[in-house]
Amino acid sequence: MRFHIVTLFPEAFDSYLKESIIGRAIAEKHISVSFVNPRMFVTGKYKKVWPDGNVSMIVDDRPFGGGPGMIIRAEPVLRAVESITKKIAKRAKVKVKVIHFAPSGEKFTTAYAKTSAKKYTDIIMLCGRYEGIDARVAKILKAEDVSIGDYVLTGGELPAMVLIDSISRQVPGVLGKLESLEEERVSSSEFYTRPEILEWPIPKKGVKSKKYSVPPVLLSGDHKKIEEWKKGTSKN
Ligand code: ADE
Repeated sequence: MRFHIVTLFPEAFDSYLKESIIGRAIAEKHISVSFVNPRMFVTGKYKKVWPDGNVSMIVDDRPFGGGPGMIIRAEPVLRAVESITKKIAKRAKVKVKVIHFAPSGEKFTTAYAKTSAKKYTDIIMLCGRYEGIDARVAKILKAEDVSIGDYVLTGGELPAMVLIDSISRQVPGVLGKLESLEEERVSSSEFYTRPEILEWPIPKKGVKSKKYSVPPVLLSGDHKKIEEWKKGTSKN
């Protein structure tokens, strides 16, 4: 699976993608994540050269019909996506999906992640900022609007990271065998590890501490009862 992220802030992804399961998936080439910044595709009067020689690449403009905030212009985004699709087209047997993030879009779920991992070789994600991207971009690219929840975020970068993480878990090889099995099982929402009895606050003179025990069933060795208990606490 190849993820292609169109964003004005590629550095926002750096630390997350280096860590843990996703970092390993990239290192082992089960997935790849590449970035294209629409700012690099600004042309014409929006490429402003200042008297001191500095250049501003202006990606946004005011909304037609008025209103607060700025809109990301269609052209730099379309050019950025064109640079991606040109690269993708050089490979055989590709299945490409374009996703545009919007709070009003289709709700992202694990089922969506599973279908996407099966169906596509390349997913292009358009991350908006400010008031959003000119609506003609999604129409031209036949992009699907996707939401990660009923709240408004500042941009599409967090939703993109959520999709990369969740879809990658469905790509063969990304999770170890045990991790995959665990994902398929009805899993408890409560987990415990050593010690069997936790005292908190740490006991010391003048401090009243309380003891917190692990549910006895988990120490019973009775696997049937343990599975029943897990089902009972499961939120799935
Ligand atoms: N952009 C802003 N908020 C969003 C959300 N909740 N999901 C997807 N994209 C968004």
